[in-house]
Amino acid sequence: MHSFWVWGLLVAAARTSYALDNGIARTPSMGWNPYNAFSCNAVQSQYEAQAQLLVDLGLSALGYDIVSLDCGWQGTNRTSNGTFTWSATAIPNGIPALSGFIHGLGLKFAVYSDGGYFSCDASGGTKHWIGSLGFEAQDAQTFVNWGADYLKYDNCYSVSPTDFVDYSPSFSLTTHYATMRDALKATGKAVVFSMCEWGLQDPARWPGTDFGHSWRMSNDIADSWADVLRIINELVPITGFAGPGGFNDMDLLEVGNSGMTIDEQTSHFAFWAAAKSPLFISTDLSKISSSALSLLKNKGLIAVNQDSLGKSIGFRRRYTNISDVWSGPLSDGSTVAVVINLAGTTSNVTFKLSDVGFSSAHAVDLLSGASLGMISGSLSRTLNAHGSIVLQLSNAVSTPALTFKFYSAAASTNILSNGAATRAVNSSVTVVGELGGPSRGVLTITGIDGGSSGGSKLVSIDYINADWTQSTNVPCANCRFAFLSVNGGAPVGVQMPISGMTWDIVLTGYLVELSGFKSGTSNTITISNPTGQFAPDILRVGVQV
Ligand SMILES: *[C@@H]1O[C@H](CO)[C@@H](O)[C@H](O)[C@H]1NC(C)=O
Ligand SMILES: *[C@@H]1O[C@H](CO)[C@@H](O)[C@H](O)[C@H]1NC(C)=O
Ligand SMILES: *[C@@H]1O[C@H](CO)[C@@H](O)[C@H](O)[C@H]1NC(C)=O
Ligand SMILES: *[C@@H]1O[C@H](CO)[C@@H](O)[C@H](O)[C@H]1NC(C)=O
Ligand SMILES: *[C@@H]1O[C@H](CO)[C@@H](O)[C@H](O)[C@H]1NC(C)=O
Repeated sequence: MHSFWVWGLLVAAARTSYALDNGIARTPSMGWNPYNAFSCNAVQSQYEAQAQLLVDLGLSALGYDIVSLDCGWQGTNRTSNGTFTWSATAIPNGIPALSGFIHGLGLKFAVYSDGGYFSCDASGGTKHWIGSLGFEAQDAQTFVNWGADYLKYDNCYSVSPTDFVDYSPSFSLTTHYATMRDALKATGKAVVFSMCEWGLQDPARWPGTDFGHSWRMSNDIADSWADVLRIINELVPITGFAGPGGFNDMDLLEVGNSGMTIDEQTSHFAFWAAAKSPLFISTDLSKISSSALSLLKNKGLIAVNQDSLGKSIGFRRRYTNISDVWSGPLSDGSTVAVVINLAGTTSNVTFKLSDVGFSSAHAVDLLSGASLGMISGSLSRTLNAHGSIVLQLSNAVSTPALTFKFYSAAASTNILSNGAATRAVNSSVTVVGELGGPSRGVLTITGIDGGSSGGSKLVSIDYINADWTQSTNVPCANCRFAFLSVNGGAPVGVQMPISGMTWDIVLTGYLVELSGFKSGTSNTITISNPTGQFAPDILRVGVQV
């Protein structure tokens, strides 16, 4: 928490330099990277074969045109004049020849390096492959001399030569990325700069666009649905930072690998595409199934990803443990909507158009390519576990804006018990925290107007949850549960994603339907978490009028 302010000051200082705004990467980058399939063990013959397959399978023609090195290509010593070297075992013909081979196929060549003393490896940092710290200008020039069109820049050994992966460095990593950005600029070649600091210091807010064309916003993906959900939760507060020339990088694709069903891979790919993440295939293309290949070749989803507006889908609605609803605008005025079946079983999922602000629209099913004609009200589908509905909506009729009457959590008329306490975020914002947790803190908001008839109402919650984690091995990774009860009725559990990485960023308008309101102004809403885990800190609650 405290180090946030340190980064804040350093970021402010760093912003006096100029962005890497060189007119390239206006849409997310697409290509192939070995890491999820080959870890740090890819060798020249494999890079060449996968590059050839990008062409032969028709993937490069659809935009996957970058072939990226990842860990394991490097040497362990520079030359006597300090030049970067490659591993003669991994790359026997040398990097310039490999770059030439890739360019000869009409593809682009991406180098991988690291802003630390050594590069990452998959064996706990024992390989001591060269990193670029202190050699940025020389390395940038070397990479460009080798024909690099793109640089993925990792973050191992960034603190010291003996600290392989440090998830809480005490200094601002912006310095490492600004130095390499400026070194790339100084070469005079427009090189795509892909920053990979694993989302540790909230690079979307540096803002990342001042430093590179994309920024990893999370720890590494692994081949499981839990990893996909961890990264989706982590994206919630930063979707607004994506735009032409600078994108949230949700990490390499797992499409084609063995850890997820094809339905899960489809949701993963559709979400990454619509969130405007770079799309790097990271599977062995010589073994890819036809279903995974056709998913990667979905022209509708690729078109959404490459849309010139460059805006990400944003979080709209979570029906806890049932479905997630996200949507965002496209350059032609249409809207892309992604609705994910959160249940681990086949389920009937209903998409309410009102959750994306519409009463009716013309719909195209982006997974099948079929036009659904005009749809109104809602659309129901039976979806396999973790499957999705993905629609492009045009000619939409908007619903009237929702209106709410708001109740401040910190109002003196409310009841705070079992250790629940107010917390001043700053001079103008006070929240109520310590809800749930070991002491089962409870907030009861009183005096809520149920209107003339009571009943069910849409409730809007503004909250703070910075319980951010790098790990998937925690329940509810990057989210917290709150349990809401109207007039002491049965509590409704709602899963609330992080609002930011620090305890001063509010998520506004989390919506949930609650029933049990009475007419008149004597209603209460109680918020807690009886499981012993904490609920988010609450700023205010709005009740629909
Ligand atoms: C090569 O690198 C290794 C590992 O960093 C180091 O121990 C060794 O001294 C280096 N050799 C030379 C000749 O620089
Ligand atoms: C360093 O030496 C390599 C040969 O080992 C040469 O190709 C390169 O131009 C040299 N670089 C500099 C900066 O002198
Ligand atoms: C989904 O709805 C259809 C039609 O109402 C029904 O036939 C089917 O059994 C439902 N499937 C599930 C998994 O609930
Ligand atoms: C949602 O599902 C999770 C995981 O299965 C479970 O721990 C939790 O109790 C469920 N929450 C609600 C509110 O249903
Ligand atoms: C207080 O924090 C809120 C929520 O992040 C923010 O919108 C507001 O600008 C802050 N106000 C001041 C005075 O810092």
